[in-house]
Amino acid sequence: MEEIKKVTHIDNVKLSEDSKSVIIIDQTQLPNRMVYLTLDKLEDCYEAILKLRVRGAPAIGIFAGYAMYVLSQQYADKPYDAFAAEFHRQKEYLNSSRPTAVNLSWALNRMEKVVTGNASSGVGEIVELLGRECVNIHEEDIAMCRKISEYGLSLLHEGDGVLTHCNAGPLATSRYGTAIGPMLLGKEQGMNFRVFSDETRPLLQGARLTSFELQKAGVDVTLICDNMASIVMKNGWVNACFVGCDRIAANGDFANKIGTSGVAILAKHYGIPFYTLGPTSTIDMNCPTGDDIKIELRDPEEIKEKFYAEPMALKEVKCYNPAFDVTDHTLLTGIVTEKGICYPPFTESLKKLFE
Ligand code: MRU
Repeated sequence: MEEIKKVTHIDNVKLSEDSKSVIIIDQTQLPNRMVYLTLDKLEDCYEAILKLRVRGAPAIGIFAGYAMYVLSQQYADKPYDAFAAEFHRQKEYLNSSRPTAVNLSWALNRMEKVVTGNASSGVGEIVELLGRECVNIHEEDIAMCRKISEYGLSLLHEGDGVLTHCNAGPLATSRYGTAIGPMLLGKEQGMNFRVFSDETRPLLQGARLTSFELQKAGVDVTLICDNMASIVMKNGWVNACFVGCDRIAANGDFANKIGTSGVAILAKHYGIPFYTLGPTSTIDMNCPTGDDIKIELRDPEEIKEKFYAEPMALKEVKCYNPAFDVTDHTLLTGIVTEKGICYPPFTESLKKLFE
């Protein structure tokens, strides 16, 4: 397996040198194999998002931006109307791959605005602008993650224990990540934390990705099964919970990986501050509350088949496999964004961010 020199410099999503394809790390193969996939077909891009080869709210937005640029070059010989129609069709298709994380539609809409906003330009020029826009989306995310990490770090003290759920590190974003960023940044500055990483059933992003990233960065990480969070909190080992987010509603309710709301309820029980960390691109002011967030339902086979070498349940057993849940804003201490930390009442503090 290729040696990771610096976790915060992992290229999870990037353009190929000739800009004709987008290259990703196939996250389903981690932590055992570092496999890069070179994608230049719409179907393959859709499949990569659906199957979580590229995953994490900001990363799928970044990927979608690059994918649209790569694909748009393939029909750049069409006249504007036909080009714009094909762009729209492909954009809608990619957008249907996963419904919960708002960053996907946010990035796709941003790319489409380049097409619709430059109708009087030549298609060749529009493609060039698309190339610039996807790089901007990526570079802005790098800067936002860094800021979020700084704000998040300001909430921590040397030696703190932090519990996290799922993966909101470099693989899910760019460079530092969001919920994992403060610990990676703190480590660079000579600080030490004890991180508890929920394994995150059913697809084990916490075990496969978060503990991998933190271990490689030299951060003290302890992997726990999801049902062990309570005892770890009860033992007094957790000073704060930091989790990512896939969509934050205008009232502060937010969707994140299934199981997050349970962690928030436990944290409240034990009096532990609970924060979500994410870029403003994850805030959906058009979504009033968590009830308006569409929760992705995934293939039941992920629960029955993936875990052990042998099936874990009878083929005919009924399964419920939501990929995300919504954490009520009343359980949330604060929302850490690149523009600062929002505190309750969130309806007001979130609105201020966009003023
Ligand atoms: O299904 P996934 O692996 O894409 O879910 C990811 C999460 O829930 C992350 O916590 C979230 O996207 C934030 S990533 C910074």
